[in-house]
Amino acid sequence: APKAIIAPSILSADFADLGAECSRTIQRGADWLHVDIMDGHFVPNLTFGPPVVAKIRSHVDRPTEKHGRGTFDCHMMIAEPKKWVKEFKKAGCDLYCFHYEAAINSTAAESPEGRSDSKTSPRELIRFIHEQGMLAGIAIKPATPVDVLYDVLDAEDPAERPDMALIMTVEPGFGGQKFMASELPKVQALRARYPELNIEVDGGLGPGTIDQAADAGANVIVAGSAVFCAPDPAAVIALLREAVEK
Ligand code: DX5
Ligand code: ZN
Repeated sequence: APKAIIAPSILSADFADLGAECSRTIQRGADWLHVDIMDGHFVPNLTFGPPVVAKIRSHVDRPTEKHGRGTFDCHMMIAEPKKWVKEFKKAGCDLYCFHYEAAINSTAAESPEGRSDSKTSPRELIRFIHEQGMLAGIAIKPATPVDVLYDVLDAEDPAERPDMALIMTVEPGFGGQKFMASELPKVQALRARYPELNIEVDGGLGPGTIDQAADAGANVIVAGSAVFCAPDPAAVIALLREAVEK
């Protein structure tokens, strides 16, 4: 399996002190920063947009390699994912992870290839994200079956293949929710089919749930409240890493 990547979600950070929170989190051993973008439509919550991402980018060193330390892993919980690709690239996003459900229901007028119909195919969106110079991720909510991901993961053209799949282990929208072990068979199915894929899990991960997720085959671990609400965040980051690497 690919290496462990620990990606604390800054959703549980102190928003009034984001720059320092982000640089501290990297110093404490995090690999990536997981940046939750919510638009109040795809999910019933709002977070922040490109200007905030651009400002925090200036507090964190850019990754020097693909998947390297300091990667901004932007989890796009937005209804119109193709509309925001260029803006987030400009803001300093490295990995643009869109929701499958949003892509197939998108009604945005702007389309990467000038298509006149309202749907964006996930393959087309992944290609567009790659063309803009970012890594591409594709996420699914608990209600979405894992096999919808096979079309892109099996794409012959690497430009249409995602660099990461995200299996949500809570209903997206809020930090601090209870981990849904019911989602782990999706992780197992992906790991069995794709030994080298970066598989991210997000929601309810922490010392009490990491072993199940790691055993299922997840290697990219998002943790918000478990890291930022802990008395010793560095110890939690180390514990998560050990669980994936063991
Ligand atoms: C939820 C977000 C998560 C959230 C996780 O919609 O996608 O990234 O921050 O928070 P915890 O780790 O507290 O469940
Ligand atoms: Zn997230």
